[in-house]
Amino acid sequence: MVRVAFGSERRAIHGEESLHTVEPIRWTAEGVVLLDQRRLPGEVIYHTYTDYRELARAIKDMVIRGAPAIGVAAAMGVALGVQRSKAKTLEELRAEFVLICETLAKTRPTAVDLFWAIKRFQRRFQELSLAAANDGGAGLARIRTALVEEAQKVHQERREADERIGRLGAELMPRSGRVMTQCNAGALATGGIGTALGVIRMAVEGGYRIEVLVPETRPYLQGARLTAWELHQDHIPLTLITDNMVGHFLKTGGVAAVVVGADRIAGNGDTANKIGTYGIAVLARENKVPFYVAAPISTLDLSISSGEQIPIEERSEEEVHHLAGVRISPQVRAAHPAFDVTPARFITAIITERGVARPPYEESLAALAAHS
Ligand code: MRU
Repeated sequence: MVRVAFGSERRAIHGEESLHTVEPIRWTAEGVVLLDQRRLPGEVIYHTYTDYRELARAIKDMVIRGAPAIGVAAAMGVALGVQRSKAKTLEELRAEFVLICETLAKTRPTAVDLFWAIKRFQRRFQELSLAAANDGGAGLARIRTALVEEAQKVHQERREADERIGRLGAELMPRSGRVMTQCNAGALATGGIGTALGVIRMAVEGGYRIEVLVPETRPYLQGARLTAWELHQDHIPLTLITDNMVGHFLKTGGVAAVVVGADRIAGNGDTANKIGTYGIAVLARENKVPFYVAAPISTLDLSISSGEQIPIEERSEEEVHHLAGVRISPQVRAAHPAFDVTPARFITAIITERGVARPPYEESLAALAAHS
């Protein structure tokens, strides 16, 4: 891993090719470049990864996060591993490919886009290796090139999906008023314009006068550190609130809609998203505020029928004990489920790039998944 740039130094190093400030990931000739989201908003630092194992570590350690961006990072991780592999035969490359996929699959358990990307690459590798079976070195070179192209295609598809989600979702937003979100489902979390924040961006671009209410999202503070920063970069009006203010604002704060992202959506519409989302959904229902989920089709997991089957990532207690690096609690036990599951009955609609699903979700999601 190479630290490539910091602040104005970044522009000097990357020149015209410099990453947009809210561009979290890019495939380059030197390797996979990631914006280090752990350091935001204080520092804008990029790292270049040339080894898939280090990239996997970066996903686990939250250098990059957000389900769709994790999917793009996994795709690039597989491509990087295969591109840099020293394998001389198809058998050697296949053995290494299995290891690469296993390593990446062990990083974040809840974000299903990770597994979606790995499965896509397993299918592609299978197709390519059949075609390359008797071609020796030339066949291996073709596999390497094709997988790099596939990773770039995944990234491009994410961008296009975000734009379509944004366009469809904007129609559901108020012409004027407050919209609440949770965590960060923005450009930082997808590599495009974002899902939930893509909806808000498109609405604002269409002339809607929206102010975003941003809960801080303890313990990792994705709301305070990332969403507030991202919206501020784009001059979208926002008010930062602490998580315990959510009920108060849904009751008295003139909130016209809630829009959040998702890490995994079960066949019945139950949705895993950042811890705290479930509480917001229940409070939204209590106060008759529509609650929307915005997510690409790759976040649907139709292999599971309900949210009870979604694995919930448990993160370190230390992230609960500390705030901005300062210990805030005595030596007691802390809990840190990183996600919760919002039952489908609290979700007004699920906005995907293929259309807006409404209850009953068993039918509407299955229809969108089948329609390519
Ligand atoms: O732990 P994180 O930061 O990866 O969690 C991110 C979220 O929960 C997002 O809301 C979700 O992945 C959707 S991102 C478009």
